Amino acid sequence: PSHPPVVLHYFPWFGSAYSYGTDPYKFLFKCRAKYGDVFTFIMFGRKMTVALGPKGNNLSLGGKVSHVSAEDAYTHLTTPVFGKGVVYDCPNEMLMQQKKFIKHGLTPQAFQTYAPLIWQETHQFFEQEKGFNVYPGPKSYEAIKFFSELIILTASRTLQGKEVRAGLTSSAAKHFEHLDKGFTPINFLFPNLPLPSYRKRDKAQKAMSDFYLEIMRKRREGESDVDEHDMIAALTGNEYKDGTPLTDRDVAHMMIAILMAGQHTSSATSSWTLLHLAQKPLIFKALFEEHRDLFQNEDGTWEDVTYESTKEMPLMAAVIRETLRMHAPIHSIYRKVLQDLEVPPALAAGGNGSRPYVVPKGHFVVAAPGVSAMDPKVWPDADKWDPFRWLEDKGMAQEALDSYSGATSEQIDYGFGQVSKGTESPYMPFGAGRHRCVGEQFAYLQLSVIMSYIVRNYDIQLLGAFPQTNYNTMIVLPLNGYVTFKKRGQ
Ligand code: HEM
Repeated sequence: PSHPPVVLHYFPWFGSAYSYGTDPYKFLFKCRAKYGDVFTFIMFGRKMTVALGPKGNNLSLGGKVSHVSAEDAYTHLTTPVFGKGVVYDCPNEMLMQQKKFIKHGLTPQAFQTYAPLIWQETHQFFEQEKGFNVYPGPKSYEAIKFFSELIILTASRTLQGKEVRAGLTSSAAKHFEHLDKGFTPINFLFPNLPLPSYRKRDKAQKAMSDFYLEIMRKRREGESDVDEHDMIAALTGNEYKDGTPLTDRDVAHMMIAILMAGQHTSSATSSWTLLHLAQKPLIFKALFEEHRDLFQNEDGTWEDVTYESTKEMPLMAAVIRETLRMHAPIHSIYRKVLQDLEVPPALAAGGNGSRPYVVPKGHFVVAAPGVSAMDPKVWPDADKWDPFRWLEDKGMAQEALDSYSGATSEQIDYGFGQVSKGTESPYMPFGAGRHRCVGEQFAYLQLSVIMSYIVRNYDIQLLGAFPQTNYNTMIVLPLNGYVTFKKRGQ
């Protein structure tokens, strides 16, 4: 069998790095038109084989552990930031168990305690931090900056625990900043350069890890109360199936991983959500009406937003879901090929008739679920942000709806040897298969509570044009997107 076609490029080692890096979707759609669903492009000497469409996603996300490896693709980026011994610095079956331990901290009971905490943090952020208690607006902010500040507060107050929230006003914030600057596409391409940012990253990793160790020590020795619903509490004291204990150091490193996994993904999603709402006042109004009908009493007072109530907001859910369709924070998912990987003829057909391809060992396979999420063949008006497409039958390909409903993380068993479901969907902003996100429900809770707070209390407006997309960061971000807030009724 032959290898997939190679994308034409002029500079041997650089290959298509520039086109892919500046606008991956434009590049991938263009290549798909020319080469079919499976093709290889060169990026800094690496051979990247893209497999598009639901079946293509399945090739890498549904691939066997013996054939494709996430750890070989990511460890050089993630291990210096998270620390050793966890996530991609351990065998896959250990990661699968770590994800189970994380799920112990993401229970409905935990979420019930989180909802009011997220609300309080958001209230305090608007009122005190941004000063809306003194001046009701209008005031404008760059969305991504605004939400990065807010999300780290809400995530640390809930998942990370109160000690981390308290630490954010001092040293922890600096460590986080240095870690974050070591988590960029440059670090992905060049794991170790003799640059100050790399040294700061390494120092911050140690400091952050020590900070968590100290929290665990104090809790153990009774010097501080244990917050039973946070992630530190959920992770400590676990054992792997073979009896090996999860050490405090492992817990510390997993806490950093969780912080990094949720921070930019959630701040990007809240930014894009608010920017779209600011551009579509009628949808913002409909969202307010949904909120009012659920929470306003006859005398004009408001009920609290609880975890249960966040699941009773169909339009809010559709708004978030639609935003993730158009702006999946992670545009490409990588795996290293460990053994020659056979591409089924049906998938290779676009390129070379009925002969199957083989993706050779040593290549990377790339899944880009965002391509099928914006494919005009699957979605009518694919480039239009239309939350109502999730609520009404607007002629969306039934396949898209069916496979979406089959792809929630609740149905996935992270046990050994289980083949996970839901790797063949055109909509998978949270990935699929054994590496699928465990943070989806938390992300929805956090976004629903924050957006509810805004909808209840503020009018918003887009300042300037709708932003372009910045693909030069690990996470797909809006570039220069500004929103103006004004307290309702002022
Ligand atoms: C994995 C997206 C929020 C924790 C993933 C993957 C995606 C993703 C696409 C799969 C990566 C791969 O297959 O290589 C998102 C999005 C989020 C979000 C869009 C928010 C809108 C979170 C949050 C947490 C989290 C809040 C923590 C509570 C994880 C973990 C993994 C993961 C532990 C597993 C990595 C693995 O098994 O290799 N996420 N995520 N994520 N995410 Fe999220």
